[in-house]
Amino acid sequence: MNKRMLFSTLMILFSVHSFSQQNIPQLLIAKNGNTISTAKQWEKIRRPEILSMVETEMYGVVPGELKISEITLLDQDDQAIQGKAIRKQVKLTFRGNQKELSVELLLYLPKGKKSYPTFLGYNFGGNHTILNDTAIHIAKEWNGAAKPRGVETANWEVERLINAGCGVATMYYWDIAPDREDFSIGIYPLLYKDGQTKPANNEWGSLAAWAWGLSRALDYMKADKHVDGSKVIVVGHSRLGKASLWAGARDQRFAAVISNNSGCGGASIYREKAGETLLKMNNRFPRWTAVNFKKYTESESLLPFDQHMVLAMVAPRPLYVASASEDAWADPKNEFKSAFFATQVYHLYGLKGIESDVFPALNTPVGSTVAYHIRNGKHDILAYDWDQYIAFAKKFVK
Ligand code: GCU
Repeated sequence: MNKRMLFSTLMILFSVHSFSQQNIPQLLIAKNGNTISTAKQWEKIRRPEILSMVETEMYGVVPGELKISEITLLDQDDQAIQGKAIRKQVKLTFRGNQKELSVELLLYLPKGKKSYPTFLGYNFGGNHTILNDTAIHIAKEWNGAAKPRGVETANWEVERLINAGCGVATMYYWDIAPDREDFSIGIYPLLYKDGQTKPANNEWGSLAAWAWGLSRALDYMKADKHVDGSKVIVVGHSRLGKASLWAGARDQRFAAVISNNSGCGGASIYREKAGETLLKMNNRFPRWTAVNFKKYTESESLLPFDQHMVLAMVAPRPLYVASASEDAWADPKNEFKSAFFATQVYHLYGLKGIESDVFPALNTPVGSTVAYHIRNGKHDILAYDWDQYIAFAKKFVK
């Protein structure tokens, strides 16, 4: 081997090494040091270990069981979207500690089809913002002035989804838990023990509370005869992408998981992260995660896990991670890296994911059962993203 060849070989080894698990906790080495080499070992040993670590140290555990107490169909229109869809507005009521919490789930479901994928995710501003349909109830406003109808139309693309033969279901995230430092309203008080006023150190922050709400929506959807409950895909953008990712990682009944620009606390690996760091996130949004997580605020290298492990918990179900080129805050490179590492678990199932660590070109989806794209443009969820999710759903959610 001449000097040049030696040099390039060393460079390749070095770069593979630097993009491999350097400084990042090993996905496939169990706590006792054993290597995980089969899907069975992953399911029996490593996945439960990771679930328990991530749950107690970051998102927080759900402090009890609370089922839907009452389902009320508030509205049904079989001629929605120019007769192409059924619209439903369903109130889900929860009761606990003599308190009651209600949340409205809005669904648009393609007509005349027996089995189709339905995308479930939270909206940022109330159900009435996802489409300019005057029949949609205006959401209770928790957060300043009510948002105008239809302001999130370009982020939901309801018609595009219906035309593609997919359903869509959404809720307003504030209805489950407020996005401010306030644990006196939302779902929390329904599960407090006597005298408790805020979650205990290992108990849920709001991301886990929102994730819990998505699982309850799925409980409902599995019982709705108009929905194929085995094909519900959980999706979310940004902080709501973090919530969806955690919902999909924990709850294996979700058929597939889509993280759109979820960044810090979502798909992105914390270690060596650009843009928003764990420190920045914990300082600005302490409510999002358990109190336990604050011990890592200034020392993320001590984390016994990283976010590729959360992505890996989705395996073998289809997983799509997406970034946007101008979204340095979320850190596309670390979102991609996370999907790349998570692919190791898909390999245990004989499935393919992100097979190359070469960062893809703009607007060029890569991968297979684990897929990734970086869209040109800003932090957002737009038609381009939905087109990829629809194609992904059609290919992998059968
Ligand atoms: C902030 C926050 C991000 C989050 C984003 C959003 O920018 O720092 O973590 O994803 O809000 O939810 O839009």
